[in-house]
Amino acid sequence: MEKISRTRVVDLLNAETFGTAVNAKGWVRTRRGSKQVSFIALNDGSTIHNIQIVVDLGKFDEELLKLITTGACLSVNGILVESVGSGQKAEVQATEIEVLGACDNSYPLQKKGHSMEFLREVAHLRPRTNTFGAIFRIRHHMAIAIHRFFHERGFFYFHTPIITGSDCEGAGQMFQVTTMNLYDLPKDDNGQIDYSNDFFGKQASLTVSGQLEGELAALALGAIYTFGPTFRAENSNTPRHLAEFWMIEPEVAFNEIEENMQLAEDFIKYCLQWALDNCAADLQFLNDMVDKELIERLKFVLNNSFVRLTYTEGVSILEKAVTGGHKFEFPIYWGADLAAEHERYLVERHFKAPVILTDYPKEIKSFYMKQNDDGKTVRAMDVLFPKIGEIIGGSQREENYEKLKCRAAEMGVPEKDIWWYMDTRRFGTAPHSGFGLGFERLLLFVTGMSNIRDVIPFPRTPNNAEF
Ligand code: 4AD
Ligand code: MG
Repeated sequence: MEKISRTRVVDLLNAETFGTAVNAKGWVRTRRGSKQVSFIALNDGSTIHNIQIVVDLGKFDEELLKLITTGACLSVNGILVESVGSGQKAEVQATEIEVLGACDNSYPLQKKGHSMEFLREVAHLRPRTNTFGAIFRIRHHMAIAIHRFFHERGFFYFHTPIITGSDCEGAGQMFQVTTMNLYDLPKDDNGQIDYSNDFFGKQASLTVSGQLEGELAALALGAIYTFGPTFRAENSNTPRHLAEFWMIEPEVAFNEIEENMQLAEDFIKYCLQWALDNCAADLQFLNDMVDKELIERLKFVLNNSFVRLTYTEGVSILEKAVTGGHKFEFPIYWGADLAAEHERYLVERHFKAPVILTDYPKEIKSFYMKQNDDGKTVRAMDVLFPKIGEIIGGSQREENYEKLKCRAAEMGVPEKDIWWYMDTRRFGTAPHSGFGLGFERLLLFVTGMSNIRDVIPFPRTPNNAEF
């Protein structure tokens, strides 16, 4: 076969000059045609669209043609011509075809319209479908948008550890990391596991949040963000929880809660605008196939302010709903942790807009949140989104050494685990604030997908770590 350097399908489809010899490589999505001619839809992942390859069957060897089946990988030399019928601007009239990889007939993606559940079972192949190609291209673009947003505003990308000795959220949902022999664990005199000979000489786990280390950095570099994998061993089999997810955590010295809220709103809107500007074809596909209101919803959120109210105000709206006859599965009263159904009632039924709830009861929030003067609430903020519920959780931080120490003790956070965190409150403390955005929750919103397992390439959930 003549050596012609490869042009990506996206570039072939955008070409302005025709009649030239080109090479395309990619996987066969479909093949149709007559006894004389085949039309092959070839996709290389560079775009949702396929390039049509026109094959004059008389010019090719029959044995070769037999190998051109759905899923096979081809290298095609041909002439790029303006297309008349294929719905695309350009197509390739094949002159030479090489089958780089034949595809045997057990290929699971033979037809269109597989269920999402089935596609999760073939997560090693699902990126080759239109839907998952679109999702993973959008996932990439959102990561770029996030870095650009913070970089443009002078934030520094800061790397916090994945292996840690402290439980930031205090929820006890950590995966342990050990090199000890689990069949023969050393015990101390009290029958407790003796970690002194373990790899780190102490108990260690995978991080549930980079926040505590992020705060150290913010109190030195001014404004930082983290963007990394996060692990939670919560046994929640819901469409919105993963055991391994990615979180973005900005932390800013001198910001108080109001600035923190504004940052969160600006940040999400920047990402949504980026998706509309850079992922138009993929969003259009998802809008057509997955969620007919997707693009409208993205624009709506972009063009409207997030509603801001306190937890106390939110609870009284929910209590009125109950009095008015609305049924929730979980009870609602001041002090209750809000369930997804409560959050979604506020967002979808009451305000019909994203909501930022602030000033939650201290009992249901973490030890590090700044305490309000009322003695009951803390300067927490959760951003609640349509279809998703909580997309961001954050707060202003308690910068007062005594108050923080007292709250940590009350909540049973051992001082030996966080002495270094406490030090910032002794050595030039300052007001500061931050939040965490669940990357996959953002992707649920941007793609219109309804299960979080479908916006991460290889989901980790209870009983599931295949691939
Ligand atoms: O509300 P969370 O637990 O807050 C923190 O971890 C803080 N340390 C953040 C900070 O202030 N720097 O988690 C933050 C966000 C949630 O709002 C949600 O979007 C996402 O992380 N999240 C999950 N996403 C997927 N699967 C899970 N199991 C998640 N748990 C939290
Ligand atoms: Mg939260």
